[in-house]
Amino acid sequence: MAHKVTSIPGEGIGPEVASAVRRILAATGVKIEWEELEGRTDKSTEKGQLVSQSAVDSVRRNHVALKGPMATAIAGGAPSVNVALRKTLDLYANLRPVKNLPGVKSRFEGVDVVLVRENTEDLYSGLEHEVVPGVVESLKIITERASTRIAKFAFSYAKKMGRKKIHAIHKANIMKLSDGLFLKSIRTVAKEFPEIEYLEMIVDNACMQIVLNPQQFDVLLLPNLYGDVMSDLAAGLVGGLGVVGSANIGDDAAMFEAVHGTAPDIAGKGFANPTALLLSSILMLDHLGERGAARSIETALEKVYREGVHTTRDVGGQAGTDEFTEAVIAALK
Ligand code: NAI
Repeated sequence: MAHKVTSIPGEGIGPEVASAVRRILAATGVKIEWEELEGRTDKSTEKGQLVSQSAVDSVRRNHVALKGPMATAIAGGAPSVNVALRKTLDLYANLRPVKNLPGVKSRFEGVDVVLVRENTEDLYSGLEHEVVPGVVESLKIITERASTRIAKFAFSYAKKMGRKKIHAIHKANIMKLSDGLFLKSIRTVAKEFPEIEYLEMIVDNACMQIVLNPQQFDVLLLPNLYGDVMSDLAAGLVGGLGVVGSANIGDDAAMFEAVHGTAPDIAGKGFANPTALLLSSILMLDHLGERGAARSIETALEKVYREGVHTTRDVGGQAGTDEFTEAVIAALK
């Protein structure tokens, strides 16, 4: 039976990379019935969000989506459609595997770490106000419910993927109540998974440790803000945001996305690199239980990068999107 998946190609280079990824997925033989939709609507809702209700309905129906980037105005303007989609669908877990791709210039080799970030609360709850002119307050919200569910997600994911060790990252020495509750909730869950080694590390030390010796880490479990910062830091260890995949996962739906933006400077020119969305689609195949196809694409991608003949300009190659896509498809065989 075919998997039904919502496709939101996105904007800028989104449609180019989404089409490349769909061609590669088709070449694996996995049957996917795509329902293609735009993520944005021109009608603003009461909250000023421009997220398309039909896209939300489609993801709720199909439970899985592959999404390209969408533009967001900086400082003012409409809220981010990307964030609105994640919030509306309650995609509380952000998953970011970070692994070297052969041939991609990076400062480290042998990095293979997965960051699991709580996606719904912490300082990103959006609860800010001006106390008096010149003084603002942003509220950091940590709940036992959200901390427990992200911990359950991280431990279950680690178990499913054969990972051995989880580090909870925190600053509970200073934020004793909020980060303290985050840790307390995780410790309770950790007891249910004795096969996985559980460790804790203060966030500033974790930042130093990951640039000194990234190979010591297996899975990092982080609240929203530290997770945001450390997941880009970790991507930088292996060559940047163009070579890592990402997923936002909830109990009822999962959205697999590229972490880069719409790249307006190169949109429509035919040399966008589909690697990030392709890595996200590998996570999607794992999520759909299509492990064989996921590993085939992983191996094909590594082959194309190792050979270095058909790679795109952003990673120092010469190829356009089509040539790269064809090379990955050829390497699948
Ligand atoms: P960007 O990631 O779009 O571009 C930064 C640089 O990286 C540009 O030089 C671009 O050409 C290059 N680049 C990005 N992806 C590439 C790819 N796949 N292949 C080759 N080169 C690539 O970041 P920027 O310029 O800050 O943001 C542009 C727009 O994208 C903004 O409106 C921003 O809000 C949005 N954005 C959307 C995201 C999402 O939908 N998840 C994430 C990040 C930004």
